Amino acid sequence: MGLIEELDALEARAKDMIAAADDAAALEAARVALLGKKGEITQVMHMMGKVAPEERPVLGKRANELRRMAESLIEHAQGDLKRQAMQQLMATEAVDVTLPGARPTIGHAHPINQIKEEIEDVFCGIGYTVEAGPEVETSWYNFTALNAPMDHPSRSARDTFYVVDNAPGSVPHPEEHAHGESDVLLRTQTSGTQIHIMEHQKPPIYAIVPGTVYRPDTADACHLPQFNQVEGLVVDEGITFGDLKGTLDYFAKAMFGPERKTRYRPHFFPFTEPSCELDVSCHVCGGKGCSFCKHSGWIEILGCGMIDPNVLVNCGVDPERYTGFAFGIGVERVAALRYDLPDLRTLMTGDMRFLNQF
Ligand code: DAH
Repeated sequence: MGLIEELDALEARAKDMIAAADDAAALEAARVALLGKKGEITQVMHMMGKVAPEERPVLGKRANELRRMAESLIEHAQGDLKRQAMQQLMATEAVDVTLPGARPTIGHAHPINQIKEEIEDVFCGIGYTVEAGPEVETSWYNFTALNAPMDHPSRSARDTFYVVDNAPGSVPHPEEHAHGESDVLLRTQTSGTQIHIMEHQKPPIYAIVPGTVYRPDTADACHLPQFNQVEGLVVDEGITFGDLKGTLDYFAKAMFGPERKTRYRPHFFPFTEPSCELDVSCHVCGGKGCSFCKHSGWIEILGCGMIDPNVLVNCGVDPERYTGFAFGIGVERVAALRYDLPDLRTLMTGDMRFLNQF
């Protein structure tokens, strides 16, 4: 067989080898076998030096054609394989974007926080600021500065969680020191924040303070050992009981609806004088009397009153120039009214079947 025939046979073989390679590895093996250092076509090229000079132009041209053909076939085959691989990937890993996805469950604010935020919205709407205060408090802020006498029953360990009795490291307020007292406790009411605010802010003051308070009560349908209040504080020139009533009526109607009746019932708090509790007409019986309102037709939602001048003096505010009112709203009470809850403990269970209703 002459060289030309050998080259024809090699061309046919090369075409078969390349066509037979059905993946990248097989194609690479074919490339090495044909065009690699020791590949068949490479060897033909090396042989050209030994060919008789008169045959060289024809054979050289033929060999070059063969090499270019093999190179081009391999290149095309590589392209085809890549395209095939991509198509396969798209077929197997395709995502149907029209299918509904797996939705993450999105939670929502706890009903207590929803009510707290609603109360904030009502007061922010009439120009109040929202403040915060410490939950671990000294007896000065929680009791003494609020005009509570040293023998007030709420100071006893039955009614207050004490953290440190007569804390050695604490710096007692001079007034406390006079009584030999500097206790650290979990605040039983948010009213102590009135003192903090008046210490740092000059009147006019229009502020509310939402916060958690603690009392050593056993949890039952109407009591929780940990609950929430929103304290309110107004100190300005010329503030009267009429301002208190107007403000809290506005609040009660914003929270419970315009048809709701309000009633101010005289009460006693050490830090306000006069003091009262605000009742709203019962939503269950509309005021006729039912078991929910203990047959009174009314439900208590907050304590309030005109700030006692002693409290203003304790905070360095001149009671001859300024007057004010304060109030403390029971957040869980309001939530119970709004959501018709017969038992406050349900608010604390974390049971999603209950919480998802709000
Ligand atoms: N601190 C009182 C309580 O926990 C509620 C209260 C009553 C707050 C009268 C006030 C107020 O600011 O003026 O029962």
